[in-house]
Amino acid sequence: MKPFITLAETKTPDGGRLTLHERDGEHYIYLNGEQLMSSVATSSEIRLAELACAKIQKGTADRVLIGGMGLGFTLKRTLQLVGQDAKVEVNELLPEILDWNREHLADLNGKLLDDPRVKMRLRDVTETISNAKEATYSAIMLDIDNGAEAMVSRANRNLYSVFGLVKIAKALTLGGRAVFWSATKNDRFRKKLVKVGFKVTEVGSKAYPNAKRETHFLYQAERLGRTAMLPDEM
Ligand SMILES: C[S@@+](CC[C@H](N)C(=O)[O-])C[C@H]1O[C@@H](n2cnc3c(N)ncnc32)[C@H](O)[C@@H]1O
Repeated sequence: MKPFITLAETKTPDGGRLTLHERDGEHYIYLNGEQLMSSVATSSEIRLAELACAKIQKGTADRVLIGGMGLGFTLKRTLQLVGQDAKVEVNELLPEILDWNREHLADLNGKLLDDPRVKMRLRDVTETISNAKEATYSAIMLDIDNGAEAMVSRANRNLYSVFGLVKIAKALTLGGRAVFWSATKNDRFRKKLVKVGFKVTEVGSKAYPNAKRETHFLYQAERLGRTAMLPDEM
């Protein structure tokens, strides 16, 4: 078997060990020894973009938000789905992820950061959402953790609280969609989305095209109207 090479490593804000590896042309990112993402299992990251951007018409100047960059498969599919006038904002928490994309992963998806539609910010996506004006984004794609209960950064938990979800609803246009990636089925989270007033669809996804089972879950939350509670109303 080909060797599993460590290309780079860093610490997360909570002191976790984040490492980048390569084996036989494929790339892997591990958090504390557990795989966070890989260039082999990308089907659900791609599906995330397809669900979030399903209602976007090419030719319109939609604004969409992706948190975070990772290996860039959600970004790649988004750029294929939106039009030339769209604005694709990507927020990434860890500077090393951007460095790795430019240095080690340029031929994977790193070069997409130079697409004129992309606005990359080294920033916590929760901050962007909190500061967004009402009805800014047609789509918000959130794949920042292994799900609402397995986080890269403890601070991310705020995003999955009712308060955080209300802010996401507020940042979406009417009919806009937020989609959350999750490594497991999470009925508690689904109910929370319903409580906030979203139209919720739980979509199972295979990790890779030939997988036998759908092991990942995508929580699609559509803003229905001005019914979601806004933070100052809570
Ligand atoms: C699972 S990866 C994303 C995979 C990506 N969808 C893809 O297609 O490769 C999670 C990414 O989110 C980033 N991240 C974690 N918390 C974040 C936050 N609060 N704001 C922005 N990015 C964050 C991580 O550093 C990591 O790069």
